[in-house]
Amino acid sequence: PPIDECLSLYDFEAVAKSILPTAAWAYYSSGADDEITMRENRSAYQRIWFRPRVLRDVTEVDYSSTILGMPTSLPIYMTATALGRLGHPDGEKNLTWAGAETGTIQMIPTLASCSFDEIVDEAAPGQNLIMQLYVNKDHAITERIVRHAEERGVKGLFITVDAPQLGRREKDMRQKFADEGSNVQQGSTVDKSQGAARAISSFIDPGLCWKDIEWFKTITKMPIVLKGVQCWEDAVLAAENGLAGVVLSNHGGRQLDFARSGIEILVETMAELRQRDLLKNGFEVYIDGGVRRAGDVIKAIALGAKAVGLGRPLLYAYCAYGKEGVVRAIQLLKDEMEMNLRLIGAPTLADVTPDMVDISALHHR
Ligand code: FNR
Repeated sequence: PPIDECLSLYDFEAVAKSILPTAAWAYYSSGADDEITMRENRSAYQRIWFRPRVLRDVTEVDYSSTILGMPTSLPIYMTATALGRLGHPDGEKNLTWAGAETGTIQMIPTLASCSFDEIVDEAAPGQNLIMQLYVNKDHAITERIVRHAEERGVKGLFITVDAPQLGRREKDMRQKFADEGSNVQQGSTVDKSQGAARAISSFIDPGLCWKDIEWFKTITKMPIVLKGVQCWEDAVLAAENGLAGVVLSNHGGRQLDFARSGIEILVETMAELRQRDLLKNGFEVYIDGGVRRAGDVIKAIALGAKAVGLGRPLLYAYCAYGKEGVVRAIQLLKDEMEMNLRLIGAPTLADVTPDMVDISALHHR
C-alpha cells in the first residue's frame, strides 16, 4: 500500500508482516515464552486514563525536549533493535537518516547489521547519537568498542543489563539463522540452527555486575545509562552509583516473561527516587516497551519519564518503506502529540502533570 495510507504505527506493522521473510518477522515480532510480558507492555498503557484540564490556552503547543542534555524534537528516541538488514537492505542507516530529518536521537545497537562506522558515517553534522552496549566476556573487546564510540562522537552509553542470557523466543528459535553480514563478535559460538537471537548472543558476559559498571566510568566520559532495569531498587542503586540514568524496560517482552511493564515500574521508581532526593543531579528515567501512540508518551511523561524508546514500530516502518517510513511514523506521532496535548490542556511538556492521569486501574492486571 502507498505510504500515505499508513495512519498510525500499527499500519506499518501490518505492512511489515505482509512483506517480511518468515525468519525476519519471527525474530522481530517474537517475545519470550508465552509472550505475556510483551502483551502486558501494551495493556498496561490501556489501564491508564486521562484527567484533562479545560480552558487553558493551547493555541501554541511545544513538545520538544532533551535527552542527556541533547535536544530532541519530541520526547522519544529510537531504541536499539539488532539485525536491521534482515528486514531492509539499508538496515539501521534508515534510522540515522530519519533521525537527522526529524530531529530525533538514535541508539546504535552493538548487534546492528550495519557496522558501527557505517552508521556513524551517515550521521549529519552535529547529529546526536547514543549507543547500546552488550558487554563481551572479553572486556578488552568491550573497552575497544566503548573507546571507539566515544572517539566517533557518541554521546551516551546505554549498557543492557537485562540479558545475561537471551530469553527463549520460540517463534525465532524455529527458524534457521542465515545472516552472514552481521556483527558477530569474538567469543560467539555461532549456532545457526536455533534462530537469530541465539546465533549472535553467546559472547555476552553473564558475570556482569555493579563493580564492572564502576570500571566503565574509568574508560569513558560518556554518560552511562543502564538499560533494562526492572524494579525501583536497582534504579536507586544506579542513581547512588552516580550514573546518568536508567531505562525501565523488559526488552520488549523478549527476556523474562512476567517481568512487569516499564510504565508500571515508573510509578514506584519516581516515588522512591524523589523520596531519597536522587533526582537532583539530573538523573533521568526513560522507559520503553509497547509505546505505539503519542498518548502513551504523554502518560509516561506525566508519571515522570524524561523520554520513551520505540523499538519495533520504527523497525517495521523502515522494513516497509525505508527511511521515508520512519520519517512518516515520527510525523504521525508528532501530529498525535499536538492533538493530545491540546485535548488534555497542556501546551508544553512541563504542563503534563501527574494529576492528568488516573492510574487507579494500573496495578489491577
Ligand atoms: C530488541 N531490543 C534490544 N535491546 C538491546 O538492548 N539490544 C539489542 O540488541 C536489542 N535488539 C532487539 C531486537 C528486536 C527485534 C527487538 C524487537 C528488540 C529491545 C529494544 O531495545 C526495546 O527494549 C524494545 O524493543 C522496546 O519495546 P517495543 O518498542 O519493541 O515494544
